[in-house]
Amino acid sequence: MTFGSTNDVTVQLGARSYTIAIADGLLDSAAHRLADYVSRERMIVVTDENVAKLQLPRLTASVQAAGMSVHPIVLPPGEATKNWQQLEMLTDQLLAFGVERGDHIVAFGGGVIGDLTGFAAAIVKRGCGFVQIPTTLLAQVDSSVGGKTAINSRAGKNLIGAFHQPGFVLIDPSVLDTLPPRELRAGYAEVVKYGLIDDADFFAWCENQGADLLTGDRTAQTEAIRRSVTAKARIVAEDETERSGRRALLNLGHTFGHALEAETGFSDALLHGEAVAAGICLAFAYSARRGLCSAADAERVSAHFADAGLPNGLAAAGVRADGATLIAHMRHDKKMEGGALPFLLARGIGETFLARDVDLNDVAAFLDGTD
Ligand code: NAD
Ligand code: GLY
Repeated sequence: MTFGSTNDVTVQLGARSYTIAIADGLLDSAAHRLADYVSRERMIVVTDENVAKLQLPRLTASVQAAGMSVHPIVLPPGEATKNWQQLEMLTDQLLAFGVERGDHIVAFGGGVIGDLTGFAAAIVKRGCGFVQIPTTLLAQVDSSVGGKTAINSRAGKNLIGAFHQPGFVLIDPSVLDTLPPRELRAGYAEVVKYGLIDDADFFAWCENQGADLLTGDRTAQTEAIRRSVTAKARIVAEDETERSGRRALLNLGHTFGHALEAETGFSDALLHGEAVAAGICLAFAYSARRGLCSAADAERVSAHFADAGLPNGLAAAGVRADGATLIAHMRHDKKMEGGALPFLLARGIGETFLARDVDLNDVAAFLDGTD
């Protein structure tokens, strides 16, 4: 059987380099592509209830056709699953199964499953392998690549974790067919982010093709995923553990967005990607206010997110808090450095940079004067 052409991208990390395979229909030949990583007759697959119902049968069929079977571990869907209790239950199950260091656990789901499974793989027996089969657009273009793994704690999101790179990433855009449209749009915010960071041509591509992507055009989806993971792979290879400031560029919109998510209780009221969209618009509007980028560029970014059905500011995100309240949330950001908070600002579309001279009182005043 043949499937759509495969666009392989490599994350260049020396001995920890790995391949990201992207192709329409690839899930149906997953067993073949995973053969180098999963040697057991029973493949351990961690997933959530939604993905188990909608997509696991395809993966299972492929594995069975190759003469193997799937040992599924099915967790509840949603952000709350990234907690200590689920981590303990997952690691207990992996140990009961007899997982070995040489094994590769399969993370089959969105960013929640990828982050939790990756962290479990990082700590079980001091580290075993895992592969990512991301099933949301957000996970396909961002969280499945780069090795950030984590759970949430009482003190905040993603505060307990480790850098642990997957051995392989398998991306099949066709799984997006069952993804709720709101989740697809939220993931699209992270696609647009790559254009805004350092690729103005890709942002222009998004302006032209974004609507097609969101209505399910497979060619547009595949191209967006390929360009996004190529950009992410390059940045991760340059700064794997976010030490040099290069990888921090991937956090464009996240400081403003984090404050919005905190204000809405990290709930379904505002999905992570929606908060990132609004946060990026605020970062551009603030950059324009400081004379760093043109008002026209900030307006262009805002218009594109609005066209995509994503929130482009505080009101659109359903947030009515004043600047002081939002700044208080930002002070809890894990990116705080010696009492100061670095911000991703822009000199224009595709010209994001890390600013360490931002006065939080000025940001508060800006937030009080914007909607
Ligand atoms: P998610 O994993 O909660 O998935 C969103 C929803 O979609 C869930 O209800 C899930 O069950 C459902 N779903 C997944 N695939 C589906 C499919 N194909 N069809 C139907 N339903 C499907 O959320 P997400 O947006 O994928 O990920 C968010 C998480 O990712 C957050 O915890 C965030 O912190 C993390 N994240 C991590 C990184 C990283 O670098 N590690 C980067 C960005 C975000
Ligand atoms: N999503 C941010 C990062 O991977 O660094």
